[in-house]
Amino acid sequence: MGVDLQMRIGILTGGGDCPGLNPAIRGAVFRAIDYGDQCVGIVGGWQGLLSCETEPLDLAGVDEIIDRGGTILGTSRTNPFKDPALVQQTIANVAAMGLDALIAIGGDDTLGVAAKLAALGVKVVGVPKTMDNDLSGTDFTFGFDSAVSVALDASRRLKDTAQSHRRILILEVMGRHAGWVALYTGIGSGADYTLIPEVPIDWDTMVRQVMTAYKRKKYAFVVVSEGVEVTRATSEELDDFGHMLLQDRGVGPEVARILEEKTGISTRSATIGHIQRGGSPTLFDRILGSRVGVKAIEMIHSGEFGKMAALRGTEVIAIPLTEAVGTLKTVPQEWVDLLRVFSK
Ligand code: F6P
Repeated sequence: MGVDLQMRIGILTGGGDCPGLNPAIRGAVFRAIDYGDQCVGIVGGWQGLLSCETEPLDLAGVDEIIDRGGTILGTSRTNPFKDPALVQQTIANVAAMGLDALIAIGGDDTLGVAAKLAALGVKVVGVPKTMDNDLSGTDFTFGFDSAVSVALDASRRLKDTAQSHRRILILEVMGRHAGWVALYTGIGSGADYTLIPEVPIDWDTMVRQVMTAYKRKKYAFVVVSEGVEVTRATSEELDDFGHMLLQDRGVGPEVARILEEKTGISTRSATIGHIQRGGSPTLFDRILGSRVGVKAIEMIHSGEFGKMAALRGTEVIAIPLTEAVGTLKTVPQEWVDLLRVFSK
């Protein structure tokens, strides 16, 4: 069914920010102009729909944001489905704001809300983003390439100092409960060992391989995902979507402490944290963000609501939001096998 009327389209970004959000917003606004649509920025994710906080989104406002990190619309981790009254308020506000359709740009949480709203009749399409690359249904999300590029730069710096001091250096990266960021950082930086949440820590193997590398090079470099389970790593704090906050668990320092104890070699750790989420998007993320932003507008005009613009191979296609949310895309065994090839 085609929907070719000029529309008023709300755009929001939810969840953790990442490079690529601004190119996606820009892509949507540029394509909307072709259809004669009017875009409205909803400020601060789903929170902005509850408070009706908006800002105009026009060509002048987005023209120069292709290379800017973060999101010009702001973001939050607000979950309207925490309370049925908030769901009703969200739906009522879509009508009150005169929105014909909504573009929700986000990860599993934001798009999970979008999927539920679509099931309740809201005309919403999704655009996938997350630096964690853990969203199902799409080969990659923008934000990931930029985050790993920053981690690679940090790795190079840490290897320099590790080499100079003949130390073991640990880099803790983000990524939540999926190991993609650590995996790509580990392989891309030439790390001697990489810990990801999908594989329980085998201390004996790790110590053996780190020592082998150390004997050969007089230093060793290890990448650790924030989501791995180490004995003393604890945090009970949860966000609006029920996710444990991982950044204060101290996984990197704890792995460093244990490795130093087991190897007798001076070991230091560095946690890259939110530095990974900022900065100018890489070329890959600029292009992917632009493509999925454009696709979202086209999906609205072809009436493909309740769907998400997904990257499959080299194509951007519309897939049901329900295929993307609910089950995280974790690192499969074939990638774990590949990682092992580079631990020598
Ligand atoms: O989901 C993206 C992410 O950066 C995770 O890798 C990390 O665990 C989390 O967000 C941090 O969340 P916040 O910015 O709310 O501290």
